[in-house]
Amino acid sequence: MNLLKDKRILIGITGGIAAYKVPEIIRRLQKKGAFVTVVLTNSGAKFVSTLTLSVLTNNRIYTGLFTGELPHIEQGRETDIIVVIPATYDFIGKISSGVADDLLSTLIPAADKKTIFFPSMNVRMFKNRILQSNIATLKKCGYTVIYPEEGELACGDVGLGRLPDYETTVAIIERELGDGYFEGKKVVVSVGGTEENIDPVRVISNRSSGRMGVEIGKAFWLRGAEVTLVVGRTNINIPDYLNIRVAKTVGRMYEILKKEIKSADILIMSAAVSDFIPLSPHKTKIKLRGEVTIKMKRGTDILKSLSKNKGNKIFVGFALEDRDLVKNGRKKLRGKGCDIIVANSINSIDSNSISGYIINKKGEEPFNLLKEEFAWKLTESVEQLIT
Ligand SMILES: Cc1cc2nc3c(=O)[nH]c(=O)nc-3n(C[C@H](O)[C@H](O)[C@H](O)COP(=O)(O)O)c2cc1C
Repeated sequence: MNLLKDKRILIGITGGIAAYKVPEIIRRLQKKGAFVTVVLTNSGAKFVSTLTLSVLTNNRIYTGLFTGELPHIEQGRETDIIVVIPATYDFIGKISSGVADDLLSTLIPAADKKTIFFPSMNVRMFKNRILQSNIATLKKCGYTVIYPEEGELACGDVGLGRLPDYETTVAIIERELGDGYFEGKKVVVSVGGTEENIDPVRVISNRSSGRMGVEIGKAFWLRGAEVTLVVGRTNINIPDYLNIRVAKTVGRMYEILKKEIKSADILIMSAAVSDFIPLSPHKTKIKLRGEVTIKMKRGTDILKSLSKNKGNKIFVGFALEDRDLVKNGRKKLRGKGCDIIVANSINSIDSNSISGYIINKKGEEPFNLLKEEFAWKLTESVEQLIT
């Protein structure tokens, strides 16, 4: 699901050095189908040119309040969301104290639309108590304020003050346009394959890419959840906005999940956890002299073990099957004590798409979708269990 498609976004640019990043953010929003309008403060115009912005948006750039029209009313009326990026110390002070002395600061109270502020400034300015009190006022009044990240700042200082990276910034805007259904819920997703040592050099693993788990994490996050991924072996890029715990082996994954699940509401076990693990890994590299026999033992059945203390949490398991998907899936639904089993066919592994059945106590539903689409569908299946 693309929550940015056909959405009208008003970007307010104020006079911070991070304004140079905004053209790239606009481009990314447009690529996802959003229509962008820009309002610049006078100081904002010193950092990024109206020419660049008007070419990029194919639109007039609004700066002045006294133009003979009513831009502060019209532009606000036409938009789905207002995003102030970067939001300066000065501008946050203005809005929080009700000053409306230029187009952007007049438009925001007149529009009464969902508004996100992305503060960005020197670390001491950010920690200043007046700013912190102004941010608290904005939040109290229902505005969203996104805390800056820590790192090297344009002024040479190191600390809080940077904008989030491009991908995260766009995702935050997208999330604000969503329904926030899972707000206040914590979702834990296991991701990728596990790997077990045969010796210090070789491992036994599987072909799971981790794509499904990452997409599930993104979809629940976009619908408002706090998401933690417990990640085994994966080569998929994980966005900054998802929390990550690394767990390469079955044992480690079980340990971490046991801890994470305590504060979670929903568990999605999408990782391909090794069913067999070497009985006793060699301490030194195995010398190849003819045939080698590796004795294996059964790895922990994580889902079954965790479901003993499930309570009223929602558990979703994945079952990769090469035949009898519904029959085997149903058996696992009962045997592992979960609420949903996603029985998926063997060609879903290491692929962009997934096919199979969503099985719950009431019945089953077939699907054949891109993993990104399926992740969204899974959020809806979980929603149906809650409501
Ligand atoms: C080179 C330069 C860089 C600046 N960078 C920032 C910044 O990153 N964040 C900030 O809050 N203010 C910054 N300022 C100060 C603002 O531009 C100044 O407070 C201005 O009045 C803000 O106007 P506006 O809020 O109407 O856009 C900077 C000023 C200069 C000269």
